[in-house]
Amino acid sequence: MNTEIREEIFKQAKKWVLEAGETIRTKINEPYEIDVKSNANDLVTTLDKDTEFFFATNIKSVYPDHHLLSEEGYGEDLTTLDGTVWIIDPIDGTMNFVHQKKHFAISIGIYQDGIGEIGLIYDVMADVLYHAKKNEGAYKNNAKLAPLNQNLKFEEVIFGLNHFWLCENRLVDEHSMQKFVKKIRGARTYGSAALELAYVAEGIMDGYLSMSLSAWDVAAGIVIVNEVGGITSNIDGEQINMLKKNSILTCNAAIQRNIIDNYLIKKRK
Ligand code: IPD
Ligand code: CA
Ligand code: CA
Repeated sequence: MNTEIREEIFKQAKKWVLEAGETIRTKINEPYEIDVKSNANDLVTTLDKDTEFFFATNIKSVYPDHHLLSEEGYGEDLTTLDGTVWIIDPIDGTMNFVHQKKHFAISIGIYQDGIGEIGLIYDVMADVLYHAKKNEGAYKNNAKLAPLNQNLKFEEVIFGLNHFWLCENRLVDEHSMQKFVKKIRGARTYGSAALELAYVAEGIMDGYLSMSLSAWDVAAGIVIVNEVGGITSNIDGEQINMLKKNSILTCNAAIQRNIIDNYLIKKRK
């Protein structure tokens, strides 16, 4: 994508993100409906839907030739990533939104022919915006984020993962995951994949692991983490496919191979 076009799209996206965040802050204490989707942990509220509708209508009117991949039904059923694609999670961390009224984010990745060009992750209640543009660095508000320390020692690592993977499960060997959390310095679970990726970019966590995420959970974070020298793959070390669900390992490149080879031991099907 041409730098000037990218800058123009970035400015527009940033304006919409801040506006949507302001609306959410205004409405968070008003009554809204909560529905469950695939299971009791999978929540959606009218604010998730309204926020996505806001982006969908604005994108359609200003950029009619752009595409939208998004969680709550206003996007398209895309079979390719050709062209300019906005990948949007209107509220990432809906459970935090409903139960805690904080620690959730608007996440927007903008991709050109499958390549991540722009990433925006807005921690709405903290009013903190993480952003990156390809080859132009990553920022937390206006402060440029430092490149990740590539000499990180495994014993110093703080890692984000869901406690679920330490319990008996059908995907990864829970004993090796237990070995992993004992070996590293600490583990955290924040409940918003987008924010957890932003924390990896900020260097306040050294990695994040999830077994099944959609494109809208990670599209923005991947762009932001890339800009500080972090690396994202599935748990086999392969590239993420934005058109389907993926396992996600985002981390400092210094520790990726050790985690994949020694701790992410998959169960046989
Ligand atoms: C969820 C959050 C959560 C992750 C889930 C996601 P949502 O997104 O990112 O941290 O563990 O897998 O689905 O449903 O709140 O947008
Ligand atoms: Ca999400
Ligand atoms: Ca969501």
